[in-house]
Amino acid sequence: MFKIGNVNIKNRVILAPMAGIGNSAFRLTVKEFGAGLVCCEMISDKGIVNKNDETLNMLYIDEREKPISIQIFGEEKTNLVEAAKFVDRNTNADIIDIMMDYPVNNFVKGKAAARWLLHPDKIYDIVSAVVDAVEKPITVKMRIGWDNKHIYAAENARAVERAGGAAVTIHGRTCSQMNDGVANWDIIREVKQAVSIPVIGNGDINTPKDAKRMLDETGVDAVMLGRAAVGNPWMIYQTVNYLETGVLAEEPSAREKVDVCILHLERLITLKGETVAVREMRKHAVWYLKEITGSNKFYNAINTCETRQEIVDLLNQLVEEVERRVLVAAGAV
Ligand SMILES: Cc1cc2nc3c(=O)[nH]c(=O)nc-3n(C[C@H](O)[C@H](O)[C@H](O)COP(=O)(O)O)c2cc1C
Repeated sequence: MFKIGNVNIKNRVILAPMAGIGNSAFRLTVKEFGAGLVCCEMISDKGIVNKNDETLNMLYIDEREKPISIQIFGEEKTNLVEAAKFVDRNTNADIIDIMMDYPVNNFVKGKAAARWLLHPDKIYDIVSAVVDAVEKPITVKMRIGWDNKHIYAAENARAVERAGGAAVTIHGRTCSQMNDGVANWDIIREVKQAVSIPVIGNGDINTPKDAKRMLDETGVDAVMLGRAAVGNPWMIYQTVNYLETGVLAEEPSAREKVDVCILHLERLITLKGETVAVREMRKHAVWYLKEITGSNKFYNAINTCETRQEIVDLLNQLVEEVERRVLVAAGAV
């Protein structure tokens, strides 16, 4: 167990913020697999300040998700402060995270926020303004630096700490690295040594053993998993269990995967209505199935589903095929 500000985090495994994925339906499903903390997808400060309906809907939290961190992103201090105040006073989030984890693609190239990592003073200025304006603990998620020649991870983390930030998450890539190459865990270790606030390490944790290795090699207080948990919330359970007992839990069966996928779908329907939920669920369904032998011939059909029933029927059909194969292999039919 560790603490971020006054918030107790029951273990050292955290779900990463992921745009287009990390809404309440996904987070709650992951939470039930034991995540110590879940983080929402990034939410625009301007959308919050302008009370954009779609943005405000993104702030929905199911009580069962707690503790949860809401991540906000923006370009300048005034809006970030106003958005943080809104989240502080109007949501049941436990933590507010400021996003400074920008992969430098064409979209963010010209944006000031992407360049904050070049300026620890700017980070101090922004974080202290937000900290002063709210009650909830403020954290920052950042990349190690702008590019290979400009890595100020320790200075930047110290700026967060000086400003009153309650924790920092370090994604071990530079902005210009996008999502390519490998995450640099040496720099994550440097950051851990540079500050006294909790440090969360992120990047390239694909197995429970990777999580243990990151904790051992860098000394971070917790690990954050992103892609490995997509379509695979069992990864969270397996990681928590491995860290606590040293035992690698079994892989789920096709039936178990499909049942959780359907539960996730039902939650998405409650959140967004059937039409939007089914479209959004197509990609998740394919992710849930990807390790199941013979699932690829279902992908095209899943990607054209328009209703809950169509997806559920396809998923059940796949499980029946898998179960029949097992019986044939065992000579039972
Ligand atoms: C689809 C996708 C969406 C992401 N969206 C966000 C986001 O909203 N906010 C953020 O800070 N990082 C975001 N990230 C980065 C992840 O939080 C994480 O830092 C990155 O995937 C590395 O961790 P991993 O190797 O465990 O996936 C996103 C990553 C992916 C793959």
